[in-house]
Amino acid sequence: MSRRTLSFVCQNCGAASPRWQGKCEACGEWNTLSEEGAERAAGPRKPGKGRLFALEALAGDTQDAPRLASGIGELDRVTGGGFVRGSVLLLGGDPGIGKSTLLIQTTAALARAGHRVVYISGEEAVAQVRLRAERLGLRDAPVELASQTSVEDIIATISEGKLPKLVIIDSIQTMWTDTVESAPGTVTQVRGSAQTLIRFAKKSGACVILVGHVTKDGQIAGPRVVEHMVDAVLSFEAEGSHQFRVLRSAKNRFGPTDEIGVFEMTGDGLREVTNPSELFLSERDLGSPGTAVFAGLEGTRPLLVEIQALVAPSSLGTPRRSVVGWDSSRLSMVLAVLEAHCGVRLGGHDVYLNVAGGFRIQEPAADLAVAAALVSSLCNAPLPADGVYFGEVSLSGAVRPVAQGAARLKEAAKLGFARAVVPEATRAEANGAIQVSDVGSLTSLVADIAANGRPPARAKSGGEDG
Ligand SMILES: Nc1ncnc2c1ncn2[C@@H]1O[C@H](COP(=O)(O)OP(=O)(O)O)[C@@H](O)[C@H]1O
Ligand SMILES: [Mg+2]
Repeated sequence: MSRRTLSFVCQNCGAASPRWQGKCEACGEWNTLSEEGAERAAGPRKPGKGRLFALEALAGDTQDAPRLASGIGELDRVTGGGFVRGSVLLLGGDPGIGKSTLLIQTTAALARAGHRVVYISGEEAVAQVRLRAERLGLRDAPVELASQTSVEDIIATISEGKLPKLVIIDSIQTMWTDTVESAPGTVTQVRGSAQTLIRFAKKSGACVILVGHVTKDGQIAGPRVVEHMVDAVLSFEAEGSHQFRVLRSAKNRFGPTDEIGVFEMTGDGLREVTNPSELFLSERDLGSPGTAVFAGLEGTRPLLVEIQALVAPSSLGTPRRSVVGWDSSRLSMVLAVLEAHCGVRLGGHDVYLNVAGGFRIQEPAADLAVAAALVSSLCNAPLPADGVYFGEVSLSGAVRPVAQGAARLKEAAKLGFARAVVPEATRAEANGAIQVSDVGSLTSLVADIAANGRPPARAKSGGEDG
């Protein structure tokens, strides 16, 4: 009897099921199960004694992970100072975002520095890669190039002669390996190919970069297990206007995960943007009242978004409250606190709140930024253009600390902001890169903002048109 069995594998999450079903029980997606051959079993191992190996002590001689710096500053910052020998990176991103461009520029820089680097494209013909290199002015770089998809052939070829320092596999979805019987592109193949390449990297000491496609909901296509198998997961995303690209790391065994690298896509390839504040600030209405920048978190990653508020006298009996991108009951709470504890009367005003860029904010940490934007609009007092806000407001009007204060401050400093208004407890997390002023209560924030504008609304009586 053959030990090989067929199973049905979900193409979304990689869960296996013994029979076909319309819906994957693991991830709940419909019509994602497809029939795949199971990975070839290694054959029953004879029971016997295992090989003995030496156990080591924690103390002992170790060198710091040897790194291969690419010389591209924004990339080296994200990897933690360069590629680590024997490590495997997964680079994800939408089609056309510039993954191949970034990697051909990286390989060219390393090849020019005298390292052996190999670029394997499974998607494009050699001529196409050459055309791109020519457009980027990298044709003279001694990069070794091939258009191949068989993992075994690739490993046999690059193991000849001097071992390469860096191997690019563009992309992992196009690769196939003999060890697995499924069709290329299936979850089992992607996983099998990744496993074989990871084994090669660990054995040879070469750094391998796998390019991965991203599905429409932003996840790296194929099994999430590939993300668990590799040492680092980087993602390349478009930010703001079309030409800017941000490189982030979602996981990194050898470096930080809170660094970002910013690039600009030009006709000559990707250009490093060392001062990204220009790109972020360029699209804002500077100096107009009612906007505040919130240093938020999206999952575990910091994200700066602009909060816009418009507070205008209402002609309606029941003033309008309109929110896009935030929780409307949370807005009612902030308005009630402003009214009850800070003397800000909004009963006769319409309030519109919008989170710019179509973002949806979930966290209560936005309370302080929302309050700042509301008061700024009401008092006609523009907030400082280089300031960010975050903090949770309690019903008593106190400003409470929020998670990951240091990461938010770091992202704000990286994006060129010079000051932050934060809860008192967050001051301890500041690292000097950004000027931090703390507020203990909403009352002091309101007083600070109102001091810069026209007399605050509390001087007027609610509902009266000015
Ligand atoms: N002839 C060209 N002139 C300028 N930019 C180009 C040209 N061809 C491609 N690009 C840019 O390169 C991008 C494609 O980059 P690429 O590295 O192939 O993306 P990916 O590998 O992520 O799919 C395009 O979106 C475009 O911005
Ligand atoms: Mg590509």
